Amino acid sequence: MSARKRVAILISGRGSNMRALIKAARTPDYPAEIALVVSSSPDAEGLKFARTAGVETAIIDKARFGRSDQDREAFDAELDAVLTRGRVEFICLAGFMRILSDAFVRKWQGRILNIHPSLLPAFRGLKPQAQALAAKVTVSGCTVHHVVPELDAGPTIAQSEVPVLPDDTVERLSARILEAEHRLYPEALKRVLTALAATREGGSHT
Ligand code: GRF
Repeated sequence: MSARKRVAILISGRGSNMRALIKAARTPDYPAEIALVVSSSPDAEGLKFARTAGVETAIIDKARFGRSDQDREAFDAELDAVLTRGRVEFICLAGFMRILSDAFVRKWQGRILNIHPSLLPAFRGLKPQAQALAAKVTVSGCTVHHVVPELDAGPTIAQSEVPVLPDDTVERLSARILEAEHRLYPEALKRVLTALAATREGGSHT
């Protein structure tokens, strides 16, 4: 009953959370192996690290798709096919800049996580660090949550708080939150996969 879950990480850019997850998955007893990194852009910086780390990568170039519902579904159908081919069992979104269709999310619900740089439910959506500064909060942070069809609204798995300092800029606050993200995401994934493995359903899902 050792089987480590085959996890795919979905990225669109820098991929620093992806790096944190790949590094964590190299440690003994970690319950995931990173089976695949999928990028929505051929230029995503994170792809280089993944390739160098020996992780399989795939690109589904968002430029090939428009913005209609049909296009979204076509993108998600390709994504689902790539994940199925890679025998992926669990998904981590890590700076993945596309909204997934309801059908895709429902199919993977319970097996798809996201990280967001605010203490949800505060500051959902875009530029949450700028939203936190504008709201003059003194504490912000990051949240790992289950993905549901509504954006940034799924059940919280774990949060980490960071102070917002009086002279903070978006860059400084984002960097402080990002450090916390890199610790939180691997821990949260471990917690979810360990709990899944403890249930018969999760243990038998392939
Ligand atoms: C992170 O701040 C993450 O919380 C948000 O997008 C950013 C991605 O950064 N969803 P990276 O690509 O993981 O470096």
